[in-house]
Amino acid sequence: MQVPLSDPKEREQKDVSGLLASSFHASYLEDKLQMDEVLAQMSTFLLAGQETTASSEAVLMYLLATHPADQERLRAEVQAMYAGKAVNEPLEPADYDKLPFLNAVIKETLRLYTSVHTVTRHVDVDEVIPLAYPVTLEDGSKTTTLPVQRGERLLLSFRMYNRLRAVWGDDAAEWNPNRFLDGRPIHSNIGLFGNVMNFSSGVRGCLGWKFAVVEMQVVTALLVKTFEMSTLPSAKVKMLPNQFLLMPVLEGKEDEGPQVFLQLRAID
Ligand code: HEM
Repeated sequence: MQVPLSDPKEREQKDVSGLLASSFHASYLEDKLQMDEVLAQMSTFLLAGQETTASSEAVLMYLLATHPADQERLRAEVQAMYAGKAVNEPLEPADYDKLPFLNAVIKETLRLYTSVHTVTRHVDVDEVIPLAYPVTLEDGSKTTTLPVQRGERLLLSFRMYNRLRAVWGDDAAEWNPNRFLDGRPIHSNIGLFGNVMNFSSGVRGCLGWKFAVVEMQVVTALLVKTFEMSTLPSAKVKMLPNQFLLMPVLEGKEDEGPQVFLQLRAID
């Protein structure tokens, strides 16, 4: 599925900015986007698509660097897939779906370190929302319903859902890709990918989820095949929330912005 970089026409037809530029120059009115629409679409893609995927991939690399046995297991799986290819032949999209540990590593990273931690919803009609699990209120009583009123604003925490012990089990707070492979039940069927809520769910779910997953598959497989990754104990990563996203930062260097520290050794 490689796009030949030497072919600008094909590249323009396939990349998002090329498509937006063509829409601006389109001859037919119904195909045409105005400049403010092009800019609005571009900022949606940059905000929704770039930081989310980049920070998820950065955390994934850090987790592999701090879990060398999992990194080795993943490398063995990826190398076995490449072994069936000719020299310099890339993997095909279908190949990535045949790499169970790679996909488990991606799901588990998205689950535990969700980049979109919370979304908001405005209530349109008075409603009583049934809860899957009882919730203990401040006065100690338990409830299984949540009454909401028109005009209220709801904050829905994906981070909390992704760490619910009732859904993920007692080890919900641990990074354990094997949970997706060891046959244990996951007590939920929502979410667009692996029952995690990173990409939200339903009609307003992420439009780019599959694209993001493919990006993570390709980048992770290539990096793990090419480099051994490690980090320094002093370069601890923590997740820092801003209004929309949780971003990885180095402890003590929060003001330097999102980053992880990796040492790479090329594999012969
Ligand atoms: C790991 C990467 C990503 C995560 C965690 C993520 C997460 C999300 C979430 C949670 C929403 C729903 C927001 C809400 O309901 O308020 C959303 C919506 C959206 N995402 Fe993503 N996203 C990712 C990657 C991408 C990529 C790569 C693209 C585009 C290429 C993209 C495009 C969009 C768009 C256009 C929407 C708005 C959909 C709508 O409102 O109908 N996302 N994303």
